[in-house]
Amino acid sequence: MDFIFLEEIDSTNKYAKDNIALISDGTIVYTDKQTAGRGRLNRKWVDMGKDNIYASLVLKPSDTMLAVYSNLTQLLCLVLCQTFEEYGVIPKIKWPNDIQINGKKISGILAEAVIAENSLKGIVLGFGINLNTSSEVLSEIDQPATSLNVETGKTIDKKEFLDKLTAKFFLLYNKFIEDGFLLIREDYIRRAGFLNKEITVKVLNEKLFGLATDITPNGALKLLDKDNKEHILLIGDIL
Ligand code: BTN
Repeated sequence: MDFIFLEEIDSTNKYAKDNIALISDGTIVYTDKQTAGRGRLNRKWVDMGKDNIYASLVLKPSDTMLAVYSNLTQLLCLVLCQTFEEYGVIPKIKWPNDIQINGKKISGILAEAVIAENSLKGIVLGFGINLNTSSEVLSEIDQPATSLNVETGKTIDKKEFLDKLTAKFFLLYNKFIEDGFLLIREDYIRRAGFLNKEITVKVLNEKLFGLATDITPNGALKLLDKDNKEHILLIGDIL
């Protein structure tokens, strides 16, 4: 596992994608200042200072795309939760890979695949973590957000957090590629804050409303709509 530290960059995901051929498998690119961070649903990821995490994990499992690779964000989401728990907080997953504490967002993941000439060059798992940001600064974000230092009352060491997180990720990674989401399903479900609740999910340009009933063995969300029709969603975002 290697680390590439950049003092300032537009986006660690963009840097990782642009330099994918030069970055080795298992590298974490991270920065102190991200000037054009991007999130899911075309949102921005706001830079809230150097003591937070803006990072991208580069993986090169094979040169063809396998279905299990789309579950890697869920593996990262689980190990993020387990790392937060080491600091004594109780994180909840908002499917597929947002993390909240007391209903407030603390971390998000943006996964991107680099494909060229019909071959997979790499997978970039970008993640932002609010580690050390005051409630005043957090209140300027357009959605409820929190940080680990607000939740614990302690200053969090950024490199220490990244080391704990990546160690947990690579402990499970090889087996996860072999076994798939089933390897972590129970641990994931235990932290799922959305199950048995009525939710709205944005799937491409459509919105679906219903009861979140389960997570399937391959990580999809089961949603029961008002006509009792079951939807199995492999992609989407809970709004
Ligand atoms: C989301 O919740 O919408 C995903 C946010 C992902 C943000 C991270 S910060 C590091 C990496 N570089 C980016 O431009 N985005 C991701």
